[in-house]
Amino acid sequence: MTQKQKLVIFSGAGMCAESGISTFRDTGGLWEKFKVEDVATPQAWTADPEKVQHFYNQRRKQILDASPNSAHLQTAEFEKYYETTVITQNVDDLHERAGSSQVLHLHGNIRQAKSSGPNQERKLYPIEGWELSLTDTCDEGFPLRPNVVWFGEEVPMLETAAKIISKTDIFIVIGTSLNVYPAAGLIHAAKNDSKKIIIDPHANELNAPAGFEVLKMGAGEGLKYWRKKMENLF
Ligand code: OAD
Repeated sequence: MTQKQKLVIFSGAGMCAESGISTFRDTGGLWEKFKVEDVATPQAWTADPEKVQHFYNQRRKQILDASPNSAHLQTAEFEKYYETTVITQNVDDLHERAGSSQVLHLHGNIRQAKSSGPNQERKLYPIEGWELSLTDTCDEGFPLRPNVVWFGEEVPMLETAAKIISKTDIFIVIGTSLNVYPAAGLIHAAKNDSKKIIIDPHANELNAPAGFEVLKMGAGEGLKYWRKKMENLF
């Protein structure tokens, strides 16, 4: 039996646009309505935890109301043909709900909470509904905060992600403006002889490094197009 090729899908907010979840930096995006420093930094949490909690509760509600789109479903289907890993900057669980079994969340998972005290990494607490309250506490009595990586915080899964990307045969980047580091730097981790593709309607405005095939399309359409090209496999 021949070994399956390795495939990494590296996704950003554009992956979920067709599920009705707005991106961060497009026109009308989330960061036009909110200031990063008010809702997505450790300082924001210290200054006004209620505001931060409310912001993420609204995001969680929207995610729970949304469904995986064609791009999430196609990504999950790739597992039949490739040894597939999803590396996502997204904090939603739409890849998992679409059926992907190997999903690495670089920026955390909004459906989980962690302690806001000193031992944040000790335990994750699943959040059942959409609402997390400041009266919900960890085992040590500190308020629970969303398990998301805020600006200014470390990205604990970065090295693991870079290692996986450096070994992949096919690397597909979908729906990320490549603005937020260190995650955006992962685009350089793929090996020279791997097949590298970027799918994004604004792809030509992104600084795609040499060697990438650029598909200026939405996520679902771009994946369909690429699958057709690989039709000997499908
Ligand atoms: P951005 O909002 O910065 O970029 C979204 C990208 O999706 C843009 O390049 C769009 O052109 C593209 N896009 C829009 N519609 C699309 C569609 N239908 N199909 C495919 N692509 C589409 O989002 P990210 O790059 O994911 O971090 O942002 C990175 C990080 O910044 C996020 O993880 C978040 C945010 O602040 C944290 O919260 C730490």
